[in-house]
Amino acid sequence: MPLALTLPNAGICMLLLVSNLLLWEHVASKPTGPMSIEDLYYRVVDQSHTTYYLAADLYHEFDMKYFNSSWIKDRRLSLCHTASIHTPESREEIHETKTEDLLKAMINISHAWEEPLRHLVSAVPTLPGASDKMLKRASAVKNRTRVLQEGMKIILSRSHKEVEKGAYPACSGLADLQSSDEDTLRFAFYGLVRCLKRDTHKIDTYLKMLRCREIFYNECFFE
Ligand SMILES: *[C@@H]1O[C@H](CO)[C@@H](O)[C@H](O)[C@H]1NC(C)=O
Ligand SMILES: *[C@@H]1O[C@H](CO)[C@@H](O)[C@H](O)[C@H]1NC(C)=O
Ligand SMILES: *[C@@H]1O[C@H](CO)[C@@H](O)[C@H](O)[C@H]1NC(C)=O
Repeated sequence: MPLALTLPNAGICMLLLVSNLLLWEHVASKPTGPMSIEDLYYRVVDQSHTTYYLAADLYHEFDMKYFNSSWIKDRRLSLCHTASIHTPESREEIHETKTEDLLKAMINISHAWEEPLRHLVSAVPTLPGASDKMLKRASAVKNRTRVLQEGMKIILSRSHKEVEKGAYPACSGLADLQSSDEDTLRFAFYGLVRCLKRDTHKIDTYLKMLRCREIFYNECFFE
């Protein structure tokens, strides 16, 4: 299984890793042979679509429940920690970007979210009045991001490319998620779920676009 070679970082929770690998191993090789690239794209898009909707729900619930102009007033939102990972913006630029480079950028983004998502999941119960649903959503986004990452790595490995070793952008301000000051906590949470919604949307959009390119030779409409 070439998959094992594509896992660069060792500091990840083994249990979660094993369960994800099993999931994709099941997906990647059927008794009849390896899963087709169509099916792989179908699976990752299904995964990215759901992940985005969960992240959007999480943002929405936070926004409805906690947004308050008093704590946002004197603070400035910083750029998302993944802003340094270049992704094409215009149609032309997307067209000129190789599939493998887009996949690598998205894998980079998903790695960059591992730590912030762990902190986010731990921080949900410290928000006064946070619902159980909110915690479940945050936890599901975290789990699905890992699964999605493995899926993208499998697709990348099909073109005999591997993820390069390297660092992933770190997220500053995670300490604020443990702040005892409620406004600081809320602001940090807000900044994070806002970026999470944006990045999961980005991954979902690019994956749908790649599926269109790789499977339908660009002859498809966007959902
Ligand atoms: C906003 O929060 C402040 C304290 O953080 C509180 O005094 C105020 O009532 C809140 N406003 C609304 C509309 O919830
Ligand atoms: C996410 O994974 C963890 C660890 O495997 C598990 O305990 C948790 O229930 C999962 N969360 C969801 C929402 O599936
Ligand atoms: C991820 O993106 C950052 C910012 O562009 C870059 O410095 C880093 O090398 C990338 N990591 C990998 C593994 O490609």
